[in-house]
Amino acid sequence: MASERFLPQEVIRRKRDGESLADDEIRDLVTAITEGVATEGQVAAFTMAVLLRGMDARECSTLSLAMRDSGDVLNWERARLRGPVIDKHSSGGVGDCVSLMLAPMLAACGGHVPMISGRGLGHSGGTLDKLCSIPGYCIQPGSARFMQVVETVGCAIIGQSESLAPADGRIYAVRDVTATVESVPLITASILSKKLAAGLDALVMDVKTGNGAFAATPEMARDLADSIVRVASLAGVPAVSVVTDMDQPLAPCAGNALEVFEAIAYLAGKRRDPNLHEVVLALGSELLVLAAMAGDRATACQMLETTLADGSATEHFAAMVAALGGPGDLIDRPDLYLPVAPIQVPVTAKEKGVVSHIDTRALGLTVVALGGGRVRPDDDIDAAVGLSKLVRHGDEVTPGTELGRIHARDDAGAEQAKRSVLAAVTIGPKPVKPLPLIREIRRSAG
Ligand code: URA
Repeated sequence: MASERFLPQEVIRRKRDGESLADDEIRDLVTAITEGVATEGQVAAFTMAVLLRGMDARECSTLSLAMRDSGDVLNWERARLRGPVIDKHSSGGVGDCVSLMLAPMLAACGGHVPMISGRGLGHSGGTLDKLCSIPGYCIQPGSARFMQVVETVGCAIIGQSESLAPADGRIYAVRDVTATVESVPLITASILSKKLAAGLDALVMDVKTGNGAFAATPEMARDLADSIVRVASLAGVPAVSVVTDMDQPLAPCAGNALEVFEAIAYLAGKRRDPNLHEVVLALGSELLVLAAMAGDRATACQMLETTLADGSATEHFAAMVAALGGPGDLIDRPDLYLPVAPIQVPVTAKEKGVVSHIDTRALGLTVVALGGGRVRPDDDIDAAVGLSKLVRHGDEVTPGTELGRIHARDDAGAEQAKRSVLAAVTIGPKPVKPLPLIREIRRSAG
């Protein structure tokens, strides 16, 4: 319970005026948010005050731990585990379906992955919304069932809930629709509240940077990367942040069911996009080394490749889906289960040249406008819509080359999306320098 006569507006006022909040004030506010005593308006005002005024390292760490403690913190001591409890999280981007592949790959390497993921936020897609396109898949199984699946299958991807980081649930939903996402302390606390609640031994963080990331500049990305490593270490969880590119969508598609199709094609070896593969291996190998499951990154990459080659990653994905209520044969027959949009139309280039710039955020917002994201916290999502076959930075095009394909519910949505994609992709006359995918790796100083 928050202290008696606690007034959220007083804490909001102090942060609005740029003051540093005391630990007790932060904890009381988080309690008030969790218990529903603080109103949605107060949550919005608080997050806007933090976005504009910032928080120092102590405040950020207190906020993260208070949000973690708003629900259960999993304890694995009594579970029968054959390896360490490890996890990966992304700060959010477009076409980022890495978690769907990496969780089962890590489990197939012998780790246990209790992945608590988020819904889409702003223009970015959320792992949870992607999983919701799988019929029957339960994203809130309760802590006991969650732990059981992680113990027996090796991985489970679920959402924050009333029992796991509930404070993040309320704050996240408000941030999504109040333009209060792009804040280092709020992103740190949101991510770590979920990750620390999962009782991890090690964490790898994918910090996206570029025009489709919340940390758009390299400076903000480095700040976020360091903030996450610092607060996780303070909480006793070794962490490493890999800063990766978001100046173009990571996968060649964006949209909930479309990204599940992409992940299944990747795991099953039908189509393995090289950009996705590079990021999967970079994150996975960092984590396997951090958790002492591999001696060096080359060995770790080999272990991850083996899980793809021998089918064990696919088996872990299938077992996870089945254990959480989804169809046991999803991998073999995704077309049977995943929703498909009724309208699919190509967007084609009008001129000859080279793709010199992609407005990734605009592509993410195109998916939201098609119905694949939320405008209000309680909006339903259309899992079938989105974009596929997207061109990449540096691709050569001529008139008629497909820049991407729209998956829409109706003609009006498709037409609007076509215009947005054309505006988001710039075609220039000259060859461009390739965009490095892995920008920087930030580890704990100690
Ligand atoms: N992912 C989260 O869980 N929270 C954020 O604030 C951003 C990305």
